[in-house]
Amino acid sequence: MLKGKRILLVVAGGIAAFKALELIRRLRERGAAVRCVLTEAGAKFVTPLSLQALSEDRVYGDMFSLTDESEMGHIQLSRDADLLVVVPATADLLARMAAGLANDLASTVLLATDKPVLVAPAMNVRMWTHAATVANVETLKRRGIHFVGPTEGAMACNEFGPGRMSEAAEIADAIERLVAPAARPLAGRRAVVTSGPTREAIDPVRYISNHSSGKQGHAIAAALAALGAEVTLVSGPVAIADPPGVKTVAVESADQMLAACQQAGRVDIAVCAAAVADWKVARPTGAKIKKKPGAPPPGLELTPNPDILATLSKPGAGRPALVVGFAAETEAVVANAIDKRQRKGCDWIVANDVSPATGTFGGDRNTVHLVSAAGVEDWPTLAKDEVARRLAGRIALHFAQPPKAEAAE
Ligand code: PMT
Repeated sequence: MLKGKRILLVVAGGIAAFKALELIRRLRERGAAVRCVLTEAGAKFVTPLSLQALSEDRVYGDMFSLTDESEMGHIQLSRDADLLVVVPATADLLARMAAGLANDLASTVLLATDKPVLVAPAMNVRMWTHAATVANVETLKRRGIHFVGPTEGAMACNEFGPGRMSEAAEIADAIERLVAPAARPLAGRRAVVTSGPTREAIDPVRYISNHSSGKQGHAIAAALAALGAEVTLVSGPVAIADPPGVKTVAVESADQMLAACQQAGRVDIAVCAAAVADWKVARPTGAKIKKKPGAPPPGLELTPNPDILATLSKPGAGRPALVVGFAAETEAVVANAIDKRQRKGCDWIVANDVSPATGTFGGDRNTVHLVSAAGVEDWPTLAKDEVARRLAGRIALHFAQPPKAEAAE
């Protein structure tokens, strides 16, 4: 989707610089040509040789190099690019950009360019929230600099909070949104995606839940957004960051998840990847259930939760044109998924084995089978964001086909 696009990647000096290597790989997989500028501090974290090997291009770093300037003037570096990307955008480089300094090759190229610039900040939480950085970020945003991240999470400095650089796939998606709008076949389509677990209260401090991390559902929301869809992600409690370019609604229970899906309004696409609890406690107590000496453990009376997928699949004027469910199985994966597609009335089911040995719950990879009216496709084991990208691609294809071809799917 980035075929023919040229990215000038400025790699600055921060611990997150290692993610630049993964980013180059991702961009090249998507067809982009990548050329790197490495700052002096950046070279303390990644070597020019690694960048050169992955980009298959030479790496620029010295503004006063006679050879570099005669082969490729620093102005030419930005002229040759469709987009400049700064990874990681450190507090120092953001400050220099905001001040208009040009004291090394990276800042000079960034000052001299008339091309769009995307920055992926990464720094300690206190540096990110410092008034100076906040002001610099505001200045840069006002000038039209694009930002991806930072996200919230555990940092190399053993602290937690905003300041963690976005993952390579998210940065690649943001790049695609900026330079390849033609690769947005779902532009104008609206989607709702459910993700993560639900929590069903027993009392104010205890709940029933499951091991879903939200990785698969969040990746699908991001992949649909990358193809241009307007996405509402309805997520149960998860520890991962909200995907960029997506409206995320945080919920706890299945009832709340259903209400949020319905509040998302008319959508063309619904993807239910959440691990919704099938049952909730019939009468959760308002106060903590006390353990009384000698008394038996309390019994939990369960009652069914609403089935969100079945509700969204109901025929009617408001039904999304395409409803995709998941099937989490531990045995007879495909057979159960075929049956589930019929029972719930959805169009496609993505079946996956969630037996503990597979690591599907919470892991980074997934082995899925796509079940539709046309039959069953077995996909190889893939990273969850690759499963998401393939699924989003299939959804885009579905909408690109005339209705007659869809029936023959
Ligand atoms: O979050 P991860 O750690 O990345 O793991 C991903 C995943 C394993 C959670 C995901 O790939 C997955 O399989 N999601 C569906 C989990 C599930 O609840 O499956 P199910 O077979 O029990 O339900 C079938 C379908 O009905 C699902 O689309 C589910 O979202 C939906 N459902 C179920 C019950 C209910 N009350 N409402 C629903 O909408």
